[in-house]
Amino acid sequence: MFFRRNKKQEIDFDHLPKHIGIIMDGNGRWAKKRGLPRSAGHSMGAEALKKIVTECNRIGIGYITVYAFSTENWKRPKEEVDYLMNLLLNYLKDAERSLAGENVVIRAIGSRAELSEEIQEQIIKTEAFTAKNDGIVMNIALNYGSRDEILQAVKTLAKKVSAGELDAEDIDDTKLSACLYTGGQPDPDLLIRTSGEERLSNFLLWQVAYSELWFTKKLWPDFTKEDLYQAIYDYQQRNRRFGGV
Ligand code: IPE
Ligand code: IPE
Ligand code: MG
Repeated sequence: MFFRRNKKQEIDFDHLPKHIGIIMDGNGRWAKKRGLPRSAGHSMGAEALKKIVTECNRIGIGYITVYAFSTENWKRPKEEVDYLMNLLLNYLKDAERSLAGENVVIRAIGSRAELSEEIQEQIIKTEAFTAKNDGIVMNIALNYGSRDEILQAVKTLAKKVSAGELDAEDIDDTKLSACLYTGGQPDPDLLIRTSGEERLSNFLLWQVAYSELWFTKKLWPDFTKEDLYQAIYDYQQRNRRFGGV
């Protein structure tokens, strides 16, 4: 009889992706399949996330960026948006305690102005509480849209040019990258999207220029650490050329 070896045993832990991005998609379909409200899928999705972050931290991934709420997700019914906002608030509160104990540095990326005051305050608290940690950096993309992010960066640079602090000719990759929410962090090496959709949906458009994309039909609440190992294993089999030979 043959036993399939666990993918984890085949991973090269000396060459892990430094940064993993995740588009956590399929919560609604997960709930629908079970005859449950979409909110149940979001709750289970939050549980799946906790496990994945813990595992990434444990194996030594440096950064993880997770798409929690897009600038386009406001189009959903108010009831669903309210549920998601409440879930995110509780996630941040909870993370302040549980994930802080695991040494996770939590940061929120995205436009904060449209979020409730309560969430804005909680973000500041959670970020401050976890800033001294030195484990994995977890960027939670919350009211995040990549085009928005790039536009903000362009405006920041344009203002410097008009103030005479910067020569337009000197604007380069590095200067623009530094103005993004992820400024100072490495770009994702690996981007995971669940639920079978194969698109970026306005996530990290600039940062994923050379990321390896990995898709699975699994719905996000069903995503386990075995799936994470599979993604990392597959990533390690890829030949990244960055335009070279
Ligand atoms: C992803 O799951 C979570 C968020 C977008 C907040 P969805 O809610 O998009 O689930 P599906 O795609 O409808 O199944
Ligand atoms: C992307 O998923 C946003 C998040 C996972 C938070 P969506 O479900 O909103 O994306 P589309 O609508 O399928 O492109
Ligand atoms: Mg979706």
